[in-house]
Amino acid sequence: MKNEADKRVPGPNEPCWCGSGKKYKKCHQSADLAGGATTAQPKPEARANPLLLTELERTAMRKACSVNADLMDYIRDFVQPGITTQEIDKLVHDWTVQRGHIPATLGYRGFPASLCTSPNQVVCHGIPGDYKLRQGDIINLDLTTIVEGWHGDQSETLFVGAVSEEAVALTQCSFDSMWAAIDVLKPFSKVIEIGSVISKMAKQRGFEVVKEYQGHGIGRRFHQKPDIPHFPDAFHGRQILEPGVCFTIEPMINQGTWKTVLDRRDHWTVYTADGKLSAQFEHTILMTETGPEVLTMTRRGPQRGHKFLSPAAVS
Ligand code: MF3
Ligand code: CO
Ligand code: CO
Repeated sequence: MKNEADKRVPGPNEPCWCGSGKKYKKCHQSADLAGGATTAQPKPEARANPLLLTELERTAMRKACSVNADLMDYIRDFVQPGITTQEIDKLVHDWTVQRGHIPATLGYRGFPASLCTSPNQVVCHGIPGDYKLRQGDIINLDLTTIVEGWHGDQSETLFVGAVSEEAVALTQCSFDSMWAAIDVLKPFSKVIEIGSVISKMAKQRGFEVVKEYQGHGIGRRFHQKPDIPHFPDAFHGRQILEPGVCFTIEPMINQGTWKTVLDRRDHWTVYTADGKLSAQFEHTILMTETGPEVLTMTRRGPQRGHKFLSPAAVS
């Protein structure tokens, strides 16, 4: 007698259980077998809480995030005076597709590029174009890759040559507040703890936290529950981070006001309302039974506790 899980294994030519529309043999069959599974995973919607990942799903997320982190390690050194953001976009696109993966932002709700490039007063969702990086700029590169159906999402703010002391302090605040939030989390923590820690640190350092854009659950979908505000929001803050939930922390910290404006022509680029600087870092995090696991750690990028320094100005 077959059990319930057995019945869900599709035949090789039947549609895959993941909903991709591909045949099972062309989709998850080999991954299921390689993972030691004798049966397919139950459909996410058949589980009590589909946001809580199984061991196989956690392995898939770890892989997607590690690919995305390798891409961050690859692209970082190209950020130099004179490169355009669309040249960075091409490098990201080609690196990704050459490895058989998919740039998640390309075509996502109509977004036209393979990453978001957000310099200086751009808060997030900047579209790569003919803007040429200049000495003194700070720029956030936000990368998301789909690997075998799973999303890895992370961003860093990078310095273009020597930057101002204020830009260094702002960048440091975004980085430190992200890590302070990660380090406060335990299994079953409430989401509000993330926003409380980030807001407190930003306030202490004289900066403001963007409210209209937030972190998010992530997995087979780019954006899903839970919402992760970076300020203490009573509504979303009640969510509990159970072992198995995967989400991002991605604080956008502004030099001046937290308020933002959306570009009226492209409907994507988000600017600070006062034209002052904004900085952001992002990691994808899996809550496990023993605490948060940062899935998007790079080998060569800034590690927990990193102190940012502006390279010496060249005349
Ligand atoms: N990577 C962004 C995030 O961290 C989302 C970019 S969506 C896009 O959630 F459409 F703007 F690319
Ligand atoms: Co994100
Ligand atoms: Co992102």
